[in-house]
Amino acid sequence: MSAVLVSLVLGSCAEDAPTTPEDPRLAPESVPVAGTGVYGVVCAACHGVKGEGKEELFSPSIAGLPAWYGEEQLRKFRSGQRGFHPEDLPGQQMRAISLTLTDEQISEAAASVAVMPMIPTTAPPAGADLEGGRFHFANACMECHRYNGMGEIVFHSAPLVSLNASYLKRQLRQYRAGWRGAAAGDLYGQKMADITSQLSDAEIDRLVDYIGALAHGDDPRGAREK
Ligand code: HEC
Ligand code: HEC
Repeated sequence: MSAVLVSLVLGSCAEDAPTTPEDPRLAPESVPVAGTGVYGVVCAACHGVKGEGKEELFSPSIAGLPAWYGEEQLRKFRSGQRGFHPEDLPGQQMRAISLTLTDEQISEAAASVAVMPMIPTTAPPAGADLEGGRFHFANACMECHRYNGMGEIVFHSAPLVSLNASYLKRQLRQYRAGWRGAAAGDLYGQKMADITSQLSDAEIDRLVDYIGALAHGDDPRGAREK
């Protein structure tokens, strides 16, 4: 991707959202070349050529997210239902990008992401409380995100097992803090805001550890309370 395109994309956002085009992490020389479609030109810079994400940019591993979910979230960023909070800098960065996209570009980029092989969430650290996490997931999350953590189109619930752990934790805290799911009309986000309002930091960490186990074949069906 050329330096000109990067500055076009980032430059055109400057009026709409307080991103920081001068941020060295977004310097054009760090941008990889990844094809000429919307994904390669606009998205790969932050989400990586395989959709693997970049921890240092807070950009999640989006590879394999279904097109319906990707489109829905890109539209939420663009309409201001997501990435609206002044302290939510990663959300604002993604919002700035979304503002440059037409409906057609959103569909094209989401379709490119959907065919990328998913990258499983990292396995949990040794000593993680998987039994507790499994029981919690089975009782509080499975009905919408399914037993395999792959999400369900009818509930508009995201797949979880391919998202990186730091992003999962951050999103659960963001819902809880009212940075996501709190905008007027965001019915599906509101569900997660309600659910996370009951969660402690320790429970969030335990659930994300468990999602790592789920991504590597654990089965929450038949989970028992300790
Ligand atoms: C400037 C860096 C940057 C660029 C370029 C960028 N993103 Fe993002 N993206 C992010 C960050 C940071 C987040 C996390 C936002 C948050 O925490 O809410 C994100 C989040 C997302 C999400 C939400 C994932 C989820 O699980 O809900 C999707 C989908 C997404 N990006 C798709 C894209 C697509 C498609 C493109 C290209 C059109 C793109 N992004 C370009 C930085 C970027
Ligand atoms: C009532 C259905 C429902 C339940 C129960 C539920 N979720 Fe969700 N979840 C959703 C929906 C719908 C979304 C997408 C919301 C949005 O658009 O912001 C979502 C989004 C998420 C996200 C953000 C994913 C992303 O790609 O950014 C995470 C993380 C998550 N849920 C984890 C959980 C965990 C952990 C539990 C159990 C404590 C849980 N969810 C319970 C419906 C649910």
